Amino acid sequence: MSEKTGKALVAGAGAMGHGIAQLLAANGFKVILVDVSDEILQKAVEKIRWSLGKFVEKKRIRQEDAEATLARISVNTSYEQAGRDVDFAIEAVPENMELKKKIFIKLDEVTPSQALLASNTSTLSITEMARATKRPDKVAGMHFFNPPLFMALIEVIKGEDTSQETINRLTELAKKLGKTPVTVRKDVRGFIVNRILGAVFNEAYWALQRGEATKEGIDASVKYTGGFPMGWFELSDFVGLDIAYEVGKILYGAYGERMKPCNEVIEPLIREGKLGQKTGAGFYNWTAGRPRIPFNLLEEYDVDRSWTVAVNEAAWLIKDEAASPQDIDTGMKLGTYWPQGPCEYADRTGLDTVLCKLKDLYAKYGMEMYKPCPLLEEYVLQGRVGKKAGRGFY
Ligand SMILES: NC(=O)c1ccc[n+]([C@@H]2O[C@H](COP(=O)([O-])OP(=O)(O)OC[C@H]3O[C@@H](n4cnc5c(N)ncnc54)[C@H](O)[C@@H]3O)[C@@H](O)[C@H]2O)c1
Repeated sequence: MSEKTGKALVAGAGAMGHGIAQLLAANGFKVILVDVSDEILQKAVEKIRWSLGKFVEKKRIRQEDAEATLARISVNTSYEQAGRDVDFAIEAVPENMELKKKIFIKLDEVTPSQALLASNTSTLSITEMARATKRPDKVAGMHFFNPPLFMALIEVIKGEDTSQETINRLTELAKKLGKTPVTVRKDVRGFIVNRILGAVFNEAYWALQRGEATKEGIDASVKYTGGFPMGWFELSDFVGLDIAYEVGKILYGAYGERMKPCNEVIEPLIREGKLGQKTGAGFYNWTAGRPRIPFNLLEEYDVDRSWTVAVNEAAWLIKDEAASPQDIDTGMKLGTYWPQGPCEYADRTGLDTVLCKLKDLYAKYGMEMYKPCPLLEEYVLQGRVGKKAGRGFY
């Protein structure tokens, strides 16, 4: 496959699909965008045209580059016509397994047998989608972050039947798009970024539910003391509470009590239709823009608790052989702008200190979320306690 001059099909022209199409076209690929109606496709093209116009206005690209990019994008409602001679396809239809499987069966029928097929799913099983096709070795996850044009990270996910060659080619593709790929070596739910974020959200939601801190206090501590770009409640609103809730359910299904969501905090808001920024209200009111997080509450919540559960989940990812410390840290820094990765944090702070904190929290609350991952205990026993010992996660 010569991706640089290659041809791609993007299925789904929504928030992600139209951005992925623009990204591909801006990097020299021919793209056919497929959706269920001409009207949706025209709207997607208008959005791309508008975005390219902004780039020209800001002198980031020349008018002729914008025109050439747009000229590389065509639209079609027919998979048969769109798939004929593509080198690869990226699926970005709504997060629903039955629908995604239908799309993969279709893509398998209409694209050349050597074409790679990737899903942009945030949470669903790549293996299951792949097994709906006759080429599961050529199917993988390619999880872009929103907006795909600007976010530097792509998680490349290996399904159970995905070949290493497919992973290598999609990793190369991600690099050609100017992105930093990280490899998720096992088809685990939440991949890297959403899995660790899920753990951190749960800790914050439970702290609020137990009355230990206010949401403003937690967010102030996370932002101003922890140096994270957004507090966890602000970020939940930004992501969408309906999405955070669904991801939470999937993580709970996959990892059990360790990922027990705090539904008491989020369900009442969802029932009221308060889904976060997109509806104008969630944990916060967004009608006048981003919520103001009061500076004076920056000590209300112990932000090391966020780090502690993040490190624990990172240890589980490593123990599961799903990701390397490097890819976990890169994922969190580029996918959510964390000031450092959890493995870097643990190595600096001391794995023994983190383990101690987890044990204290586990003793205090008895929740599985705080039960130390055996890998962490093993490392500490071996004296791999981090920077001070010359060896930790790194
Ligand atoms: N929005 C995000 O922040 C984000 C980030 C990363 C990954 N994702 C994942 O990307 C995928 C798409 O999410 P989105 O936010 O772009 O959704 P969206 O609802 O904005 O867009 C989905 C598009 O798919 C179209 N569609 C429905 N059935 C189709 C079919 N049979 N063939 C072709 N198109 C069809 C819809 O008309 C719609 O335009 C989901 O799997 C989601 O989990 C989303």
